[in-house]
Amino acid sequence: MTKSILTKKILYWYDKNKRSLPWRKKFSQVKREYYTLVSEFMLQQTQVATVIPYFNNFIKDIPDIRSLSKIKEHKLIKYWEGLGYYSRVRNLKKTAQILEKNFKGRLPSTIEELKLLPGIGNYTANAIMAIGFNKPFIPLDGNIERVIKRLLNLKLSKEITKENLIKNKKILGTSIRASDYAQALMELGAMICRPKNPLCHQCPLIKNCKSFKKKDFEIIKERKKKIDRFYLLEVYRKNDQFLLIKNTKFNFLKNLKIFPMKQISKPDNLEKALNFKISNMNMNIMIRFSKIKGAIPNSSWIDSSKLDSYTLPTFTKKIFSYLGKK
Ligand code: ADE
Repeated sequence: MTKSILTKKILYWYDKNKRSLPWRKKFSQVKREYYTLVSEFMLQQTQVATVIPYFNNFIKDIPDIRSLSKIKEHKLIKYWEGLGYYSRVRNLKKTAQILEKNFKGRLPSTIEELKLLPGIGNYTANAIMAIGFNKPFIPLDGNIERVIKRLLNLKLSKEITKENLIKNKKILGTSIRASDYAQALMELGAMICRPKNPLCHQCPLIKNCKSFKKKDFEIIKERKKKIDRFYLLEVYRKNDQFLLIKNTKFNFLKNLKIFPMKQISKPDNLEKALNFKISNMNMNIMIRFSKIKGAIPNSSWIDSSKLDSYTLPTFTKKIFSYLGKK
């Protein structure tokens, strides 16, 4: 089976079965670039179904790179509220500002230049090259990784490293319809080659698939160790009011309101800690109810009976929820 036949089968399947997603419609090249940029930033850590309404709302009010580069941060954050990982939206704005200043408000069309922009790593750069510029790149997201693992039945830890999957993505070949092809592969992974219960009998690659031949559909994930971190979180309370600070200290949730926290060494009574997995961190949070002693910089009191009226990261909302506030 040659690569070009594999490619044709996948595109044939995609043309018949693709979901209609707002960033997949036909647009001018300028819009295509901008919509690819916004959608890929949103999709970096969030599922397609969640992203759709956020994407529509975002481009309705912030229709191009210029308006994105100028929007005030507190307004911008509102469009991201609920998506989490807020560094993405701040990087998106920084990128727009650089594009306005140095690239006449357009995206550069080389992978090297793209990777120099804030928030654009290897994956997003590949996705923009393929989807935004129709260049023969294949962004290796979780969906495409799974397709490769299943096709070749890769299961050993040395087979499923990122480097080995990058090597093996060559079996997927390329197409002059590079934009469609990258999205077709993602779609195949998302809709057919699902993590559990793959729909092999609807798969255009059923005859090429080693996992199907072996009737072995198990997907092994590369183990990435999350770093253990320990924090002491202070709850200051006056009736319904809770004190939050603007986070300038930690890289995650920069400039957003969080409960005052500091990093501590591993506590003895760890079983009492709240546990959050945020990016590559395994956060263990000890909660302490404290009395205000002096002024706390960058702080404000939040009325817990009106939580919906504040822009708060999900992380902080979860702490409120733990405290019995909504
Ligand atoms: N995941 C990441 N990018 C995507 C895209 N453009 N379409 C669907 N899923 C995606």
